[in-house]
Amino acid sequence: MADLEVLDKDPAVLIDDNGYVADVGRRSDLEIPGECSEVEVDGVLFPGFVDSHTHSVFGAARLADHERRARGTDYMAIAAEGGGILSSVQSVRETSKEDLKDLTTRRLNVLATLGSTTVEVKSGYGLSLEAELKQLEVIDEVSGSAPDIIPTFLGAHEVPAEHRERPDEYVDLVVNEMMPVVGQKGLARFCDVFCEPGVFTVDQSRRVLEGARKCGLMLKIHADELDGSGGAELAVELGAVSADHLAAISPGGIEAISQSDTVAVFLPGTMLFLGKSCVAPARQIIAAGGAVALATDFNPGSSPGMSLPLMGAMGVSQLRMLPAEAVVAITVNGAAAVGEAATRGQIAAGFRADLTLASVRDWRELVYWYGVNLVSRSWVKGSPCHSGYGSVNYLS
Ligand code: NIG
Ligand code: FE
Repeated sequence: MADLEVLDKDPAVLIDDNGYVADVGRRSDLEIPGECSEVEVDGVLFPGFVDSHTHSVFGAARLADHERRARGTDYMAIAAEGGGILSSVQSVRETSKEDLKDLTTRRLNVLATLGSTTVEVKSGYGLSLEAELKQLEVIDEVSGSAPDIIPTFLGAHEVPAEHRERPDEYVDLVVNEMMPVVGQKGLARFCDVFCEPGVFTVDQSRRVLEGARKCGLMLKIHADELDGSGGAELAVELGAVSADHLAAISPGGIEAISQSDTVAVFLPGTMLFLGKSCVAPARQIIAAGGAVALATDFNPGSSPGMSLPLMGAMGVSQLRMLPAEAVVAITVNGAAAVGEAATRGQIAAGFRADLTLASVRDWRELVYWYGVNLVSRSWVKGSPCHSGYGSVNYLS
């Protein structure tokens, strides 16, 4: 992960008519066809950033939760008092599909200005067949305008109020009634579950994910976020593509995930926003050979943050990742965390020409400056995704 190839002498990227990289290297070494339009850029060109974990479809912000936390109530207690995920569920159920589409489109545009060219987006604020489908249809209908979207079904994000006394019946509903419809309609590529004490147990999460596999969905899991419960071990047992959060992962979980193909996705913005001092054990997992990605977890409750470069800067300062590891974590390994390691996340022949340009002189500045946006342009499959944001400044 610490091994980046940086081209600094007359570099060029040759893109074919289908939006894939044909070649990359010194301009003078490339075989450039006669009919070729050329775009000259200034700064450092990165692989487009891949945000592998967001909850971008929601209604209202959760401003009251934020203030309650400042007054000393923690995330789970706020949820128990009627805030938390269930307040976002109420908001999504009350908001029209058109309004959700408008909000989601605006948020995706901001993610694009921050350099993300691929964004995973989860449902999970509907928690009924009708409202989950509404969220997934929003995701489907806003797809196609840049950035590129990877849809995930998260029907098991929380137990809705109407099933509070019988959570296993809600798991039945997710597995037997929601998932087959989601699978049949092709509205999701992944299924995710919030495996956490007080939300879904490991056994309930296993039922959800085994059901998802039967419906042709790939697997993700919110695991060991606040209290370790064996979520990482479950992810490895089931061959999940990623296990996300992991701030409270057990020693056994660290060993299991490090030796597996499951990508460990860390979400440092969440821990920061919730005011928690514990962080995921990035150094231990990297040292043991695990693959690590960083994502925003963009959502109204625990991470209203949208910048992957900021997550990279926190990866360095909070998780003690090296700058190269942080850049890999928002590109190569972000792509792996959405099952796209072979198609995106690298500027290499055969990969999609998803590119992000930053107004920096040294690539390490990407994960150094924070609270500023140094992304100036981006492309998805060779076509402009975002072109020019504010005034472009080199800060050193
Ligand atoms: O990843 N932990 C569960 N889900 C989200 C938070 C959702 C919310 O609070 O609305 C997360 O942090
Ligand atoms: Fe999340």
